[in-house]
Amino acid sequence: MDDIQFQLKAVVKCSSSLDDNDIKLSELNDFMRESAEPLLKRGAPPGCGAEIEGWGVSGEQLKLDLRSDRFVRAHDALIRLKKELGRFLAKYRIGIRGIEIESYEITMNWEEGIKLRRLPFVKELKHSDGRLTLYLDVDYAALEKRIPDRLLRLLEEKKTAASWKGKSEHWELLFESRSERKKSFRFDKDPTEEMVKRGWIRHAAGRGQWIYGPQITRIFRAFERILIEEVLKPLGYEEMVFPKLVPWEVWKRSGHARGIYPEAYYVCAPKTRDPEYWEEVMDYYKVTNEVPLEMIKERIEPVGGMCYAQCPPFWIFLMGKTLPDSILPIRVFDRSGTSHRYESGGLHGIERLDEFHRVEIVWIGTKEQVIEHANELRERYRRIFAEILDIEWREAWVTPWFMAQEGKAGLAELKEVGTVDFEAILPYSGKWLEFQNVSVNGDKYPKGFSVKLQSGKELWSGCSGVGLERWAAVMLAQNGLEPEQWTEGFRRITGELPEVFRFL
Ligand code: SER
Ligand code: ZN
Repeated sequence: MDDIQFQLKAVVKCSSSLDDNDIKLSELNDFMRESAEPLLKRGAPPGCGAEIEGWGVSGEQLKLDLRSDRFVRAHDALIRLKKELGRFLAKYRIGIRGIEIESYEITMNWEEGIKLRRLPFVKELKHSDGRLTLYLDVDYAALEKRIPDRLLRLLEEKKTAASWKGKSEHWELLFESRSERKKSFRFDKDPTEEMVKRGWIRHAAGRGQWIYGPQITRIFRAFERILIEEVLKPLGYEEMVFPKLVPWEVWKRSGHARGIYPEAYYVCAPKTRDPEYWEEVMDYYKVTNEVPLEMIKERIEPVGGMCYAQCPPFWIFLMGKTLPDSILPIRVFDRSGTSHRYESGGLHGIERLDEFHRVEIVWIGTKEQVIEHANELRERYRRIFAEILDIEWREAWVTPWFMAQEGKAGLAELKEVGTVDFEAILPYSGKWLEFQNVSVNGDKYPKGFSVKLQSGKELWSGCSGVGLERWAAVMLAQNGLEPEQWTEGFRRITGELPEVFRFL
């Protein structure tokens, strides 16, 4: 951000005339030279900071031309100046009515390769000879809200994102299950196709959505039971019910509001539930048999999205609270509903879905507790995969899920905060599928939702998502749909698969 320049033209509107007598003007002149100029350099290295390039008075208006480098940004200079000027003018019983921003330009070095189309609060963007000029469209309130600073931070973020582009996501192998059997899986078909053939599942009316028949549902419930018996009970978990409609406030605090838009399923509420307001919509449908989308769009308001990451809305339960240290570690899970993601063209069978089912596991404690607990969970999961599901898998250190969901490419530098993905090969395609994660989320959630610990120690949390469809995709792809091919332990839990439907 060197070589950055700020050029700000503003008009200060006062409650009465500034140039109605010579004494006042000459004192204003002194004020500008003796108070204002040094004020705009305060805190900056010698020769740096902001300066008044010019000023002029006409009636009740004081025009200001400010310019600065990165040290005292011109908008900060204006905010400083307003305070000081207010004090000075008070001597003459003159108040400041408001400040109008005539123009604000920021110029900086910018690589040709990084294209920018539009930016908020920027009416025009010029990019030439390695220099970028932003012509801001801001009022004084926007300056007070530090919009220009946030805009510059956004540009830095875009630079970082551009430097990550093309590089693959972080991925580092941590563990591989025993591998003697790897090349000889019992099954080489696509389990989704097989299940469709057998009538276990049928594509639902929605995109990436399935209806699960009794057999596969039995398998899902078996997974849940195994998870509860082998992991959640022994580790002291209690069940909760997390909300599944996620209002904006949650996503603002969780960071999802930064990047979730292309993947969210949006939820809208009617602007009013007055039937009269909706009568036209109902009538239109009755006479056309078509749902009038445009008419509906005018009458609804987006209030948030459907459950995406599952744990974020839980945190409202703790928001603003202080917890006694003695109740740590907190261990809760939720399996009360669906998660929804607008998936890309890569939709495939039950492996990639717009609607899926997941048990979400959340633990909260001191840093040490949270890290240690993540390791215990991993150990227990491994036992399930090896002994009950009888699958081959590997574990990898990847970009933390919350960074990925905020649209940040990530360096998972420290092996403390971050995500471990469990991945398994699907023999029919030879591709690896991520079917489970265990994440240490650091203090991100307690911070984001203002949750504190009585002792003042840092509060950490972790979460782990167990996707039922993903477990099924992996288990069935590697072992097939015939119960004889499964471990006895697993068969005991599913029992005989129910046959309910027959089709003619
Ligand atoms: N909340 C985490 C995620 O969305 C774990 O389920 O990946
Ligand atoms: Zn989570």
